Amino acid sequence: MRKAFANALKAVQGLTLALILNAGHLYAQNPVPVYMDDAKAIKERVEDALKRLTLKEKIAMIHAQSKFSSPGVARLGIPENWTTDGPHGIRPEVLWDEWSQAGWTNDSCIAFPALTCLAATWNKDMAMLYGKSLGEEARYRNKNILLGPGINIYRSPLNGRNFEYMGEDPFLSSKMLVPYIKGVQQNGVATCVKHFALNNSEGNRHTVNVDVDDRTLYEIYLPAFKAAVQEGGAWAIMGSYNLYKGQHCCTNEYLLNNILKKEWGFEGVVVSDWGGVHDTKQAITNGLDMEFGSWTNGLSQGKSNAYDSYYLADPYLDLINAGKVGTKELDDKVRRVLRLAFLTTMNKNRPYGSFATQEHALAARKIAQEGIVLLKNTKQVLPINLNKTKTIAVIGENAIKMMTVGGGSSSLKAQYEISPLDGIRKRVANQANIVYARGYIGDTTGNYNGVKTGQDLADKRSSAEVMAEALNVAKKADVVIFIGGLNKSDRQDAEGYDRTTLSLPYNQDKLITELAKVNKNLVVVNISGNAVAMPWVNQVPSIVQGWFLGSEAGNALAGVLMGDVNPSGKLTFTFPVKLTDNGAHALNAFPGTKTDVTYKEGVFVGYRWADTHKIKSLFPFGHGLSYTTFQYGKVTANKASISADDKITFTVTVKNIGSRAGEEVVQLYISDPKSSVARPVKELKGFEKVSLQPGEQKIVTFTVDKSALSFFDAAKHDWVAEPGKFEALIGASSADIKAKTGFLLN
Ligand code: BGC
Repeated sequence: MRKAFANALKAVQGLTLALILNAGHLYAQNPVPVYMDDAKAIKERVEDALKRLTLKEKIAMIHAQSKFSSPGVARLGIPENWTTDGPHGIRPEVLWDEWSQAGWTNDSCIAFPALTCLAATWNKDMAMLYGKSLGEEARYRNKNILLGPGINIYRSPLNGRNFEYMGEDPFLSSKMLVPYIKGVQQNGVATCVKHFALNNSEGNRHTVNVDVDDRTLYEIYLPAFKAAVQEGGAWAIMGSYNLYKGQHCCTNEYLLNNILKKEWGFEGVVVSDWGGVHDTKQAITNGLDMEFGSWTNGLSQGKSNAYDSYYLADPYLDLINAGKVGTKELDDKVRRVLRLAFLTTMNKNRPYGSFATQEHALAARKIAQEGIVLLKNTKQVLPINLNKTKTIAVIGENAIKMMTVGGGSSSLKAQYEISPLDGIRKRVANQANIVYARGYIGDTTGNYNGVKTGQDLADKRSSAEVMAEALNVAKKADVVIFIGGLNKSDRQDAEGYDRTTLSLPYNQDKLITELAKVNKNLVVVNISGNAVAMPWVNQVPSIVQGWFLGSEAGNALAGVLMGDVNPSGKLTFTFPVKLTDNGAHALNAFPGTKTDVTYKEGVFVGYRWADTHKIKSLFPFGHGLSYTTFQYGKVTANKASISADDKITFTVTVKNIGSRAGEEVVQLYISDPKSSVARPVKELKGFEKVSLQPGEQKIVTFTVDKSALSFFDAAKHDWVAEPGKFEALIGASSADIKAKTGFLLN
């Protein structure tokens, strides 16, 4: 009996095996075990699939079929691609062919903090946690291409989209970006790193041609993209709207073919930004793989079957059918799209994802808390001591305004968003009295693409009345927390528009100045993704940089203000005192004209400009305080000189000499005092975030090789490290160098 059962089982197993093999046979003529992390296996499957596709199917695969999707090939079991914005959370569902909401009831996500905040954690583990969580949300929603992260360099504080990026330094962006990419992609969801390249302003983003020298391009604007490809292994990249060398970047021969694909060996898919393609021939030959979002005029073309009119649709097919172009480029594009499918939708090992979970909410809160930057705390107003505080006045529109809606394509429909006021109220509960006054009236709208905040911010009072009320409330409080800044409305940190001034809008400077007069215990929290001018800086004892913090904004902020969390974020871009302290503005090179901008400041972006011109910033790159104090020891090198193929290690001891636990970001800058080209005074080449208990000390080590010493030699088209003296500087910020040591490159 037992034997009979065993035999029957064997027979079934054999049959199953045969079926599996046969199934494989149906698809791949030479069945290979498919482990999707096996590049060779994927290559074979790609070639096999390619052979089975018709010309029409191939053309269909390389352009959109709806606002956010492209077709698969049902006949062969190849699924559709579904893209989604974006960098900070999974965008709600829109209609097939319209931007308006589809009205789903199950697409409210967890909003993660904006990438500016993630970068300000200076913590690669946070970047991994972010990517992993976001990738899980994308996967659960059946999206296989995430339109992010955004990593364009912060060139000017007026760029409307800086909040979606990772700051002014190519090294920091590169290091923070790589774990984000890996975290997302481990879910079988491709990242689509954007916007390649030189998309550093919004105003003229469709028409402006960027003129930048090769050295600047390679040293400042390309490293993060290169890291995305070579270290992160990104499966897709999005071209940018602007032009470079007179060609739109989505179809840019030099950027896409020469640099991305040939020089860096990118095997992934180049996706156009939405509506970024303008020419079929360029789209065929210049390295673009997939076209999305090309709007048609709805009259002569596009009234129906708009997608057939895409540059890479019928116009391409017609050229092939007429024998005017071959299919070599088409096959290359399709191979890449197939590869992406095998890594994502056709990867049977990928997990199922999860959506709007408590785990993701906690991740969002953790990242927000770690990214908040304590800019100033001279009178130790922070953390607020609730034992000594009876009344806290919370002032400012940003204390109540929902920030997850607005700002452009990164706008979200969040399952919930804790406002700063709610977060503070919840945290303080009945330990102190919270009184709120609005103080100023800024943006009262609350709607993006049909997602409504549901908040009614209309206020009929005059601005004088609103300010008077706030001053009155502030006067009577023990502590005043002003929460203002920008707000993701047009020209206040939003896609498609640049800011027009460094100043805070809505007369906030006046309000803050008056608040400082009536109450000495004033905390200003600036919510923004950009630097703002602070003419009142000397009158305000405590200043906090809060970013667009996502669903957990209020909880995160309250945690830092009340001292449950010791702040450990550091700035990823320079806060200039005035606009002309920034290189691009000093040289009148931002935003340029409608059609042209020259990056006249060259490599001297951010702190590189401030250092060279000895400009004291309002708050420098790398700056951020703590509620405890860190003491730095001497820095030592493991050798006095190195050769070109050698490495050198620097060691420094950091001690927490305060009374509470905290985290410090230790920064390594390299300086090349004498060079044949004009180099920045120093450049970031390492950073580590260390966690220290009171009295504890840790040894921090940094190992660098010649790449940390090199500049890009445009004539040689290569990186060059010139022999001679170098310096390693250890800093708590770019303007607070604690220790240094010299060494020689032989
Ligand atoms: C933005 C992209 C975005 C795309 C799709 C474009 O306008 O520039 O960043 O991913 O729209 O929403």
